Amino acid sequence: MTQDELKALVGRAALAQVKPGTVVGVGTGSTVNHFIDALATMKADLLGAVSSSVASSERLRAHGIRVLEAAEVESLPVYVDGADEIDPQGHMIKGGGAALTREKIVADLAERFVCIADASKQVPVLGAYPLPVEVIPMAAAQVARRFAAAYGGTATLRAGVVTDNGNAILDVRGLRITDPLAMETEVNQWPGVVTVGIFARHRASVCLLGTADGVKELNF
Ligand code: 5RP
Repeated sequence: MTQDELKALVGRAALAQVKPGTVVGVGTGSTVNHFIDALATMKADLLGAVSSSVASSERLRAHGIRVLEAAEVESLPVYVDGADEIDPQGHMIKGGGAALTREKIVADLAERFVCIADASKQVPVLGAYPLPVEVIPMAAAQVARRFAAAYGGTATLRAGVVTDNGNAILDVRGLRITDPLAMETEVNQWPGVVTVGIFARHRASVCLLGTADGVKELNF
């Protein structure tokens, strides 16, 4: 199976995690796009969705699925999203699609984070994938220097990218993230950092992993 077929497989499998009569949290990315397309088949049974990006909102609306603002709900039973990397404890790197801040906001509303990913995203230790960090543009150089000093990472500005919140993305290479919670907590304190793309506080509750042998369910 191709990577995209594996993404489609887990996108469809995630439907079973969505209870009829509820509002579902929806992430961003090519795997989630498959989930959104599958979600359209149960739209009559759905109250709506809270989305983590303009792109996902547009896709949901195109399918006739009602999109609610985060402010309109107090909690969500489930948030479904992809990941760039996921470790054996369910910690993730996210933000490859630059939507990490809204993803963390919607994940924070949810009781369960359902990660959908193809098997290439499973890693023993986070950090081979460049860590995305949303920053206020005036702080980008300063945050990059701090990454070098604190963790030996090399941060580069993602060219031509402005987030849905009007900010910039730094991609940090050369990290080996052995304590994701500690790094997330530390980096989030740095002035100018909006959100670091480590999801440790909001790690996955379950991961539906697309493999050549089918969907593997990992519970954390
Ligand atoms: C977007 C994300 C995505 O979930 C992540 O980049 C995975 O994307 P894809 O499903 O396209 O592989 O965090 O900000």
